[in-house]
Amino acid sequence: MKLSLDLNGQKHEVDVDPNTPLLWVIRDHLNLTGTKFGCGMAQCGACTVHMNGTSIRSCVTPVSSVQNQSITTIEGLPSSDLSKEAKAVAQAWEDIAVVQCGYCQSGQIMSATALLKQNPNPSDQDIDDFMSGNICRCSTYVRIKKGIKQAAQSMSIAQAEPSDDSLFYDATATDLNKQEGESHVA
Ligand code: FES
Ligand code: FES
Repeated sequence: MKLSLDLNGQKHEVDVDPNTPLLWVIRDHLNLTGTKFGCGMAQCGACTVHMNGTSIRSCVTPVSSVQNQSITTIEGLPSSDLSKEAKAVAQAWEDIAVVQCGYCQSGQIMSATALLKQNPNPSDQDIDDFMSGNICRCSTYVRIKKGIKQAAQSMSIAQAEPSDDSLFYDATATDLNKQEGESHVA
């Protein structure tokens, strides 16, 4: 059966059984192998992708159930609606050297970005609760938590800093005030 998918901002048509798990379609039909198979039973989080910005387990999601939904895989994350979260998480992951073998990490990053989108300032407990479905056999949990906290902090600093536009307007306003002051003197 032909099905249409909106994946990483592009339309794809696939000819598969409607009950085929989304993970098989992503990896075997669309050749996007960043999303991993772990347990196949929604227990490990290795297969996590986003549907409309929230995380889902693609190993137990029939492809027919996500037609007309916006699906994002790790490959499309940097250019998705969660690009700000993705950039902050990528930088924190690199700074802290979170990754060990790497197998679970695309799922961890998909969950971490979805968490930060929902909750830009998560507590330790919020992180534990949200990330509890993502298993890491290398036990990088402490670094993952540290990475999420660093990403949250960098996003909050970026938000507090004036943008280039506001600096421009500040400078323009100062110049205008100066000119007005000069004209009053004249
Ligand atoms: S492979 Fe989907 S949760 Fe483990
Ligand atoms: S980094 Fe190896 S399984 Fe998580």
